[in-house]
Amino acid sequence: MTYVAAIDQGTTSSRCIVFDQNGSVVAVDQREHEQIFPRPGWVEHDATEIWERVQGVVAGALERAGLRADQLSALGITNQRETTVLWDRATGRPVHHAIVWQDTRTASLCVELGGAEGQDRFRGATGLPLASYFSGPKAAWLLDNVPGLRERAERGEIAFGTVDTWLIWNLTGGVDGGVHVTDVTNASRTMLMNLERLEWDEEILDAMRIPAAMLPEIRSSAEVYGTAVGQLAGVPVASALGDQQAAVFGQACYDPGTAKNTYGTGSFLLLNTGNRPVPSKSGLITTVGYRIGEARPVYCLEGSIAITGALVQWFRDQLGIIADASEIEPLAASVDDNGGAYIVPAFSGLYAPYWRADARGVVTGLTRYVTKAHLARAVLEATSWQTREVVDAMYQDSGVPITTLKVDGGMTANGLLMQHQADVLGVPVIRPRVPETTCLGAAYAAGLATGVWSGLDELKTHWRADVEWVPTMAGEVREREYAQWRKAVERSLGWED
Ligand code: G3P
Repeated sequence: MTYVAAIDQGTTSSRCIVFDQNGSVVAVDQREHEQIFPRPGWVEHDATEIWERVQGVVAGALERAGLRADQLSALGITNQRETTVLWDRATGRPVHHAIVWQDTRTASLCVELGGAEGQDRFRGATGLPLASYFSGPKAAWLLDNVPGLRERAERGEIAFGTVDTWLIWNLTGGVDGGVHVTDVTNASRTMLMNLERLEWDEEILDAMRIPAAMLPEIRSSAEVYGTAVGQLAGVPVASALGDQQAAVFGQACYDPGTAKNTYGTGSFLLLNTGNRPVPSKSGLITTVGYRIGEARPVYCLEGSIAITGALVQWFRDQLGIIADASEIEPLAASVDDNGGAYIVPAFSGLYAPYWRADARGVVTGLTRYVTKAHLARAVLEATSWQTREVVDAMYQDSGVPITTLKVDGGMTANGLLMQHQADVLGVPVIRPRVPETTCLGAAYAAGLATGVWSGLDELKTHWRADVEWVPTMAGEVREREYAQWRKAVERSLGWED
C-alpha cells in the first residue's frame, strides 16, 4: 500500500491526515492554537505555536496510522490563506505575531492605497479589490510598525510568507537550508502577484513599498519543492494549495462550471472557470484554482464569506447560549422558523459581494416573541443567505447557473443548515463520501507530483456522493425571506469608517 500525508493548517486548528491510495482516510490528528485578539478587529496567531502544533499532529497521525515516515510517498500542504508571517532568516524566529486574514487593521491603509482609483486599483492585475483581507497590506503594515524592520527587510534579512511558505521553510530545514517558496494559489491571495503572468508585480510592490528581497519564489501547486528533515526525514514535500483551492481539488471540480462551497470559520464558494481568469463585475474575486506542475493554470471565481462557522462559535463562547457547537441544531430545530430575526455577522466588515469595511454585525427583527431558539435559527440561516448572495453573483458574472452545489467542511454535519441551504438556493446540495476534501486535495496534488496517481481522470473516479439535500421550500417563501435578509444587510452598513 502507498500512503500520502497532508497537513491542513487552518484558522483555528492544524490537522494531519494520512490517506491510502484509494483516497480513503487512514488516520487523523488535530490540535487547536490560540486566537489572539489584541484590539477590536485585530486577529493574530503565534506562528511558532502553529509550527509546534503542526509537528504534533504529524507525529499523532503517523502514530495512529501505525506508520513510519519512510512509508509515506509524499507530503502535501494546505493552509489558511492570506495570514501573513514575517521572520528572521538567520534565527527562524517570527518578528511579530502573524496577522490573520480576518484582521481589519489595514482597512485605512487600503483606502490610502486605492487613492483616486479606489478599491479596484489593483483588481485588473490581481483579481482582488483592495481590502484588509489580503496579505500585501498586512506585510506593509508590519514593515511600517515594527521598529527597524524595513531596513532589515531591504537588506534581505527578513522572509515573508503565507502559512504554506512558513511551514515548507521549516519542514525542509528552516535556518539550515529551508526552501523559501509559495504556490500560485497562495500567491494569488497576497495582492502582490500578477494573475496572468504568475509573477510578483513590481508596480504593486512599489506602491505598497514591499522589498522584493523578502518574497518567496512562486511555484506550481504540485511539484517537489524539497525534502523534509526531522521526523519526516526523506519525505518529498510535494504540494501546496490554499485551503479553499485544495477543497476544489479534493472535490474533483476539474471541469469548468463545477463548484464547491466549504463551510469553516467562514465559507468560500469557488467556481472553476477554466484556463483563463474571468474578471468579476459582481463583487467576487478572481483567483488561481490550481496549477499542476508545468500544466496551464486553472482559475476560479470565488465568493469569500468571512464569518459563518465563527458565528456559531460566537453564539457559544461570547453569548453562552449553547455550551457545545453541536447543540445549535436541536435548539434551532425546536422552532419552525426564525421568528422574524436575522443576524448579519459582519464582524470583519462584509466580504463578497459587498467588500464593505464599514459594516458591523446586526440583529434585526427582534420582538418579545423571539427566543434563543429563533436566534439559533438566525445564526444558521446567516450562512445560507450569505451563500445565496455569492451564488447570485456567480451567475451574474459567469452566466452559468449552478445546478448542484458540492459542499464540505464542519458545518455540513448540520442537516438543518444543509436543508435550508438547498431551500434558499433552489438546487440540490451534495456532500461527498470523503468530507475531508481540503486535506484530500493537498494529498492528491502531492500524489500527482510523485506518481502515486496517474492524473485527474483517476482522481475523479474516487469522488462519490454521500448525502444529498433537495430543495422543498416554496419559491415565494424563499424570495420573501431573501428580501428580509437583504434589508438586514442594508442595516449592517455604515458603522465604522
Ligand atoms: O481565506 C481564508 C480561508 O483560507 C480560511 O479558511 O478553513 O481556515 O477558516 P479556514
